[in-house]
Amino acid sequence: MIEFQGVHKIYDSGVQALKDVNIKIDKGEFVFIVGESGAGKSTFLKLIMREELPTAGEVLVNNYKLSKVKKKEVPYLRRTMGIVFQDFRLINNMNVFDNVAFAMRVVGASNRQVHKRVPYVLSLVNLEGKMRSFPLELSGGEQQRVGLARALINNPSMIVADEPTGNVDPEMSFEIMELLTRINRLGTTVIVVTHAHDLVEKFNHRVIKISDGTVVSDSGQKVKPVEEAPIPNVSSVEELAYKEEYTDYEEYDNYEPAEPEVPAEESTPAMASDVQAILDGVLTEQPDETAGKGGAEE
Ligand SMILES: Nc1ncnc2c1ncn2[C@@H]1O[C@H](COP(=O)(O)OP(=O)(O)O)[C@@H](O)[C@H]1O
Ligand SMILES: [Mg+2]
Repeated sequence: MIEFQGVHKIYDSGVQALKDVNIKIDKGEFVFIVGESGAGKSTFLKLIMREELPTAGEVLVNNYKLSKVKKKEVPYLRRTMGIVFQDFRLINNMNVFDNVAFAMRVVGASNRQVHKRVPYVLSLVNLEGKMRSFPLELSGGEQQRVGLARALINNPSMIVADEPTGNVDPEMSFEIMELLTRINRLGTTVIVVTHAHDLVEKFNHRVIKISDGTVVSDSGQKVKPVEEAPIPNVSSVEELAYKEEYTDYEEYDNYEPAEPEVPAEESTPAMASDVQAILDGVLTEQPDETAGKGGAEE
């Protein structure tokens, strides 16, 4: 689902951030990207999100050659990704419910869908009791769990997180990694850049180490592609909720989004840039046919 083929990235400054990276990450994998500061980890993620293009080589995401994806199609690509930021990027004058609901509303979800799904996703990240709180009334760990809920709200095929626990205390960091692990078990690909060695050691996930722009080690795949992964056993109320969610997801996948009341593009100029960044980053819906034009290799 993600493939780097001989990827080099040289920034305009002349810095070579990545050198001949060849990596394949399958649907359903959980991958830690580790390495020193300046190694090229964020560049690796930015290439996946098509925030940057390679200087040479090709990056493929969900069978799209990213070099062929047109600029206006990028939002559709990003909607298949749930992006989690180190600095949370919540909207401080919206409560928790609305911070999450907002990402769903802009892709045209109905009120009914929003009111059904937002509490559910907030319960997945153990925040059902905080729906009416505002971001600045929450701890760093709680804010990041809102960020995680927002990333998940539109059922992305992958979660991409650049040092998601960088501003979170160690205990909460563990909980966030555990949440990501549970989400991954349900089939979502998870790619996490982290500095936290202790966390990497506690979880038995694939570890790709980047040093000075080069992949210097790769522990290899830890899970079979998701199609072959077993459905989790129902051993708790929580997992029962997960099972129910399978149905919900299907319903959600198949609905035809209505025209948003305020089309995202029209509202762009009036938006604060951080809001726009969030829109670009967190909206997650499957690409329509136009996203594949000239780039798809089904
Ligand atoms: N936009 C940019 N322009 C120029 N150089 C950059 C840019 N972004 C990153 N770099 C440089 O590329 C290298 C890799 O950066 P980055 O991918 O952010 O590393 P990491 O996330 O591992 O700390 C560093 O030397 C960094 O200074
Ligand atoms: Mg970085």
